[in-house]
Amino acid sequence: MAGVAPGKTFTPGLDFSGQSYVDWAKKRDDDVDQAHAIIKKKLPLLGQLNGVLSLTFGDRKPVFLDARTNEAKLVEEFDGEPTTTLHMKPEYINQFYQGLLEPRYGLFKDAFFHPASMPKGNIPLAIKFADLLTPNPPVAPKKVVPGAFPRLPQPTEDLEQVKKDITEFGYALFKNGLTPEQNAILKKAVQEQAAGENKAGVGQEDGGGSNQRIWTLINKGEEFIDFLNHPLIDALVPWFLGEHALIHSYSANITRPGGNAMQLHTDQVAIQPPIRDIAFGLNILWFLEDFNEQNGGTRVFPASHLGAVAPEDIFSIEGTIAAEGTAGTALITDSRLWHATGPNHAKTGERPAILMFFMRSFIRQQENNFLSLRKDVEAKLSDRVKRLLGFYTTGALGGLEGEVREGIYVSRKDDCVGTLRAEHTPRS
Ligand SMILES: [Fe+2]
Repeated sequence: MAGVAPGKTFTPGLDFSGQSYVDWAKKRDDDVDQAHAIIKKKLPLLGQLNGVLSLTFGDRKPVFLDARTNEAKLVEEFDGEPTTTLHMKPEYINQFYQGLLEPRYGLFKDAFFHPASMPKGNIPLAIKFADLLTPNPPVAPKKVVPGAFPRLPQPTEDLEQVKKDITEFGYALFKNGLTPEQNAILKKAVQEQAAGENKAGVGQEDGGGSNQRIWTLINKGEEFIDFLNHPLIDALVPWFLGEHALIHSYSANITRPGGNAMQLHTDQVAIQPPIRDIAFGLNILWFLEDFNEQNGGTRVFPASHLGAVAPEDIFSIEGTIAAEGTAGTALITDSRLWHATGPNHAKTGERPAILMFFMRSFIRQQENNFLSLRKDVEAKLSDRVKRLLGFYTTGALGGLEGEVREGIYVSRKDDCVGTLRAEHTPRS
């Protein structure tokens, strides 16, 4: 792994530390040179940006893309306030250029651990700059304004309509999936778990100020194990993702008054290189309270799941619509759909939801169930739930000690074959 030094060497004669085929200092220089060369090559296109970008690659001093006129140029000095300031790894420029990294992911992904890499100033300009470097810059999704869409998905109990809506709009609303009694059981479990986690000091904030996330629901009560028997899963997940889809994550979120909107994203944004031709996941978000525009109903760009489509500003929900429905409704989304948790403008109450997020079986799961599943919970799980969590071989994947024939349940084994040495006798 580049950048991660070899650990301790155990075997005399097998010490590879200190050896490298790559001159890393030279590579950093080459990456910066390459970034500059790509930007220069794209200058005729970048002239449309209408602004000045300060670009800092790694620990270099900034260079400036002066694109105030159609004659854009890359210069070493700029007197004045840049429209946008970017700090990034130089190799990202090449990855944008080759279509290997989605700009809305690449520009922001490092900021979580390195706040200095957060783009500053005019953010849409930063996104447009990176888009223009890509082989196929996206177009903005169609905004929801009067007359833009002859129809939009409405809550329905008709599963064929649900499938049609997912196909056409990238989302659907399935109503009355829970009876009021079932809804009350799950809502109580989520709210009490949230309170319990806060009381124990392990509550997790979910971007948006007052919002809370409860991860790894599988460990957090039998209600959540039972909920995985809901027939909506069987009706939609194999249809959409094939027979071996896995739970990518199983969580709840609660938005509360004052909670901010989350940034717009797709649910497959972390899958890079970016692939828009196929949906990798399906999210089933259960409303445990009535969802509406006021209390943070999920914002979506209808039909934004198809084609090279991406919003110009991931921090603006203008042009989106709030998913609305009564408690017990499920919002089902294609993982390519652009969406965000909505801002919660309500004065009181809270808006809890359960998210069952499914992905095709060859994608690494968001939650690492193999490490997090409690032993006492594992002992209770049905074969159905074990399969959904990934404790089952699919195709030639997921085997234990090489056994990968399809259809085998696997579980943690404490006595996998380890070092077993015997005198080696060459065969004659
Ligand atoms: Fe999402």
